Amino acid sequence: METWVVKVFNIVAIFVLLSEAAYGNMEGDALYAFRKAVKDPKNVLGSWDPTLVDPCTWFHVTCDDDKRVTRLDLGHAKLSGLLVPELGKLERLQFLELYMNDLVGPIPKQFGELKSLVSLDLYHNNLTGYIPPTLSKLSNLKFLRLSGNKLTGRIPRELTKLGNLKILNVSNNDLCGTFPTSGSFSKFSEESFKNNPRLEGPELLGFVRYDTGESWSCN
Ligand SMILES: *[C@@H]1O[C@H](CO)[C@@H](O)[C@H](O)[C@H]1NC(C)=O
Ligand SMILES: *[C@@H]1O[C@H](CO)[C@@H](O)[C@H](O)[C@H]1NC(C)=O
Repeated sequence: METWVVKVFNIVAIFVLLSEAAYGNMEGDALYAFRKAVKDPKNVLGSWDPTLVDPCTWFHVTCDDDKRVTRLDLGHAKLSGLLVPELGKLERLQFLELYMNDLVGPIPKQFGELKSLVSLDLYHNNLTGYIPPTLSKLSNLKFLRLSGNKLTGRIPRELTKLGNLKILNVSNNDLCGTFPTSGSFSKFSEESFKNNPRLEGPELLGFVRYDTGESWSCN
């Protein structure tokens, strides 16, 4: 009886260790994919060693007690290159701070899988493409700062479902259409949207256009 209990305990313990290690590797691999996609002239990612069991000792990465990544703090780090879809696998990530770099290309739609995210700070880069409507799945999001990029297209109406949103800034881009004023967007002023030469608004009651994926582009 006792040996049976010990065996079960050992099996459970091994399973727990393996699953923690698996998460550590998976999240480390996701971050390492980002490291490989960017140029890093200041070597701020120098400590990102993919052979470690988890990324929790890497600089600019913070983990919780389960060794799952909760923060990525790489603002103002002179990084250039692409955001990678793999970052969407960090399901306990709360703070994605990549502002004031020279990141280019689109915001991956997989960022909508970051279900713990509280803050998405991508302002002052050179990001292009549309704001992914998948971001509307980030129900914990409080801070969405995308200003100072080259984002185009319409602002997805779905984002007005983000009930916890406290700060929105999409100014200084090339967005178009009209800006939403319904749902959680009702608390934001034109300040959040300014310096988008082709963006009109606020939309008037009765002229609300529910844009679909097919009509994101403006012309
Ligand atoms: C964006 O790209 C332009 C060149 O196209 C460059 O002059 C500018 O410094 C870049 N902005 C940032 C924030 O990297
Ligand atoms: C939005 O960001 C710009 C910088 O890109 C800043 O000047 C402005 O004060 C911000 N506006 C709001 C409402 O946060």
